[in-house]
Amino acid sequence: MGMLTSKTWKHVFVILTLSGIVSLIYTRIYQPFLDTRTYLKTQDPQHLAVSSALPEYAVPNTKAKQLTHPPVHTQGRDILDAAGSRFKLASVNWYGGSDEQLIPGGLDVQHRDTISERIRALGFNSVRLPYSDEMVRSNPVIPADRLAANPDLYGAAALDVYTAVVESLTAAGVAVIVNNHITHATWCCGIDPCDAAWFNSYLPRGVCRVRQTEEEWIENWETIMRPLVSNPMVIGADLRNEPRGLWGTMRWEQWAAAAEKVGNVLQRMNEDWLIVVEGTSSSNDLVGVKARPVVLEVPDHVVYSSHVYGWSGWGSIAGPYSRREYASFADSMHENWGYLLSEDIAPVWVGEFGAPNVPNDGDVNYWTHLLKYLHTVDADFGYWAINPRKPRANTTESYGLLRDDWTTLVDDYRMADLRKLMGRT
Ligand SMILES: *[C@@H]1O[C@H](CO)[C@@H](O)[C@H](O)[C@H]1NC(C)=O
Repeated sequence: MGMLTSKTWKHVFVILTLSGIVSLIYTRIYQPFLDTRTYLKTQDPQHLAVSSALPEYAVPNTKAKQLTHPPVHTQGRDILDAAGSRFKLASVNWYGGSDEQLIPGGLDVQHRDTISERIRALGFNSVRLPYSDEMVRSNPVIPADRLAANPDLYGAAALDVYTAVVESLTAAGVAVIVNNHITHATWCCGIDPCDAAWFNSYLPRGVCRVRQTEEEWIENWETIMRPLVSNPMVIGADLRNEPRGLWGTMRWEQWAAAAEKVGNVLQRMNEDWLIVVEGTSSSNDLVGVKARPVVLEVPDHVVYSSHVYGWSGWGSIAGPYSRREYASFADSMHENWGYLLSEDIAPVWVGEFGAPNVPNDGDVNYWTHLLKYLHTVDADFGYWAINPRKPRANTTESYGLLRDDWTTLVDDYRMADLRKLMGRT
């Protein structure tokens, strides 16, 4: 490495970036474009009535009950509360804290308590709440217009707003899992190598606007968790969103070691916190856990997490999940993480999955298969997302469950199927 000049590095980055752009255009733009064209050609009302295609599954052995007996811990494949009953995570993602505006979305439209109550009323018992390292490091005072519906927070800095949102959720009875989502404050996950892993200090100086060592990543974790240390409804830390290397790869052993390092630091702050460890390859792959589990000083607190979208699985021979038969999809789920449940090794939280309000054929195929699988294995889950709009450019969030008023439900097949997953049919 020492022999590489900075000019050579620049060439390497240009090549890496270009190949990343090509694969991204193919998988995120060209393929969905084809799917959408197919959908538009074959559009008929049945496509929009997906929920009617899903059978009434036997209600899982646990309902999405609220957490009344914290703290929680793990036992085999389940998360249990202090009374020994299963606490199945039925979560929703509330994003924004890791994006450009540095705060959870919607605070310009509704008071945070209104949004928290709405989340609970919809049946979710927990929220995954992302933050970026840049938000923690820069921690600026938030402009009042972004807090228009929360005047009691005027003049507050980003970290104070984050803490206030956590407290609002937990006061409403909703458990919170804090999530380090990305390094730079922006939508995750683009191809910027600076945001691929929890540290980017292996890249040449000057390449990343926010340069971060592993130690700084851990310090940021301590900073964001410190004000939450005595809140029993803050139940865990989801250590890093979709950890990956430059080419989308990351050795499981490297990530597992880093997870243990920060996990032990967090457990010394509060030994009750669940430590959530996502899979490699953008949180698809937990194959390595069997041979190399994450082992913390305080046992029975590791939860693994997988993200499953219609485009996931795209690098494989069998193709993305949007196009697979159920058997192939289920095999892939089992191999990547389902075995952790069936062999009673550890809980798995499918912490991100989602589909648009107007699904194409691929979306329908993926969603139907995933929901069937989630029913079958009774996994913990977290839908992406509650938000009606993306922070950058205020574009519509087609995966969102709420309308622009941050209270009215987009009452379509997704919430209908999530209710079934919660045992609330
Ligand atoms: C975003 O768009 C919606 C719908 O047009 C609008 O109600 C809202 O005020 C916009 N928000 C911002 C911050 O521009």
